[in-house]
Amino acid sequence: MKPAIGITEKHLDKSAKLLSALLGDEMTLYIKTRKFHWNVSGESFMELHKLFQAQYTELEETIDLVAERINKLGSKTIGTMKEFADLARLKESPGKYPSQKDMLKELLGDHESVAVELRKDIETCANKNNDAGTADLLTGFLQQHETAAWVLRRYLN
Ligand SMILES: [Fe+2]
Repeated sequence: MKPAIGITEKHLDKSAKLLSALLGDEMTLYIKTRKFHWNVSGESFMELHKLFQAQYTELEETIDLVAERINKLGSKTIGTMKEFADLARLKESPGKYPSQKDMLKELLGDHESVAVELRKDIETCANKNNDAGTADLLTGFLQQHETAAWVLRRYLN
């Protein structure tokens, strides 16, 4: 049964669709941040090991909220690695183990890309889908990605 929350079925589906792509990106970034937590080495090892843990822990909470929002809008939430990878716009690098600096650059680029997508999604949800609830949720995530990007950028200045 579709939720009767004042959003048309078409708009509910549109919001769910953009949230599913976001879920793919958040999962990709979560997995990548864990990979770097496991494999970082060099003189700032413990500092970055802990930073990456803090960042993937925050992403884990975001992922759960995105996934449940899709359900709240009346759609099924994807939950397989294949679907996440198929929908994600972020790319993985299998078999590659970058230097500390390149890990920071890659994560920074990914957080910035997600922020760019989120800015578009917020606009779509608020002004096209009549979905202020999702727009508000996404605005909080946008701020989290902007903060994560800021922290990563500070290591690279
Ligand atoms: Fe760990």
